[in-house]
Amino acid sequence: MTNPVLAEDLRYLRSKQDGDAFTGQTIVITGFAGFLGYYFCQYLLTLDIRRLILLDNFCLRKPDWVAALASDARVDVRAFDIVRDEYTGADLAAANYVVHMASIASPTFYRQHPIATFEANVLGLRTLLEFYRDSSCLKGLLFFSSSEIYGEPSLLFVPTDEDFPGEVSCTGPRACYDESKRIGETLCYIYAQTYGMPIGVARPFNNYGPGMSLDDRRLPADFAKAVLSGQNIIIHSDGRPTRTYCYVADALDGYLRILTAGNYDYYNIGMDFPMLTVSEMAELYCAVAQELYGYNGTIEYQPSDDPEYLVDNPKRRGPSITKARILLGYEPQIRPVDGIRRYLRFLHSEQELP
Ligand SMILES: NC(=O)c1ccc[n+]([C@@H]2O[C@H](COP(=O)([O-])OP(=O)(O)OC[C@H]3O[C@@H](n4cnc5c(N)ncnc54)[C@H](O)[C@@H]3O)[C@@H](O)[C@H]2O)c1
Repeated sequence: MTNPVLAEDLRYLRSKQDGDAFTGQTIVITGFAGFLGYYFCQYLLTLDIRRLILLDNFCLRKPDWVAALASDARVDVRAFDIVRDEYTGADLAAANYVVHMASIASPTFYRQHPIATFEANVLGLRTLLEFYRDSSCLKGLLFFSSSEIYGEPSLLFVPTDEDFPGEVSCTGPRACYDESKRIGETLCYIYAQTYGMPIGVARPFNNYGPGMSLDDRRLPADFAKAVLSGQNIIIHSDGRPTRTYCYVADALDGYLRILTAGNYDYYNIGMDFPMLTVSEMAELYCAVAQELYGYNGTIEYQPSDDPEYLVDNPKRRGPSITKARILLGYEPQIRPVDGIRRYLRFLHSEQELP
């Protein structure tokens, strides 16, 4: 039975997307077994698609929902490493849409696997672009970059628009991710210029919601894990870094708009308000969990055991989404309080409890 929150979100997405572009189409997704892959798969399978080819090396985990997906006759799940394995076969070559997400996204884990992270975003992407560069079937290829390509903009450049060139360190614990996403964007630009490929680049800003595992170690998952297990929320900073947070159903709407646009361009995808401190986000989790489950934990401040936890962590991050609003009609609507409520209700009914 479909989780009620997921069903609600899919209805919401269908109200924003007509989905016609995908009718009869073959779609390939790399890195499908992660957080965002979950919603991509769930949404695409509500449509009249021909085939969904799903590639992942399951380097961090293989979620339970993967087995359930494989029972759909349109779905072809493959254990596939985008760096080491070879793209071959008429079915992969016939893809009409390609969504390239394979890359560890959680800072805790990409700092543990810096070479694999770099390889996925640079070597894996290059191989994929080579494979599809002369395709006559391809209508859209979406590369997942990151808001991290902007690094630490000065306050004058927050909210940050797509023209900001970035203030990024090429060394340090986050460089494997930030810099490889930047090179990935350059590859996309070069291949689009050289071969006329319909490549869209998304720069996601702090997505959260169903599909994000409680063991993901990103902030929304850590806070959810704490409140659902009745523990206090632990903050490993002074609580002052600010972010905007975008609920996954809104983010997916943006990604699908880029994928189907049919031309080369790059966009920030996220929410432009409200800008919340980490402490304010924790307070929202406490309030929502109290309303839903009578949670009565508190917020604690403790330095992380990991001395590099906060190195190069931007103090303030928020997107301008004017470009996506104007060119794609992107309009995220789900406020953090509602998104957190949906995420906690989803986890609770999935019983993904610690
Ligand atoms: N979620 C966000 O807020 C956010 C923010 C910025 C950027 N992004 C980008 O969006 C994409 C998806 O994000 P997510 O949150 O779903 O990430 P995630 O870490 O939850 O999932 C990534 C998936 O990629 C797979 N993968 C990694 N290396 C691989 C390889 N060599 N071959 C095959 N599969 C491999 C992993 O097994 C995992 O299933 C990533 O590229 C990420 O960098 C996400």
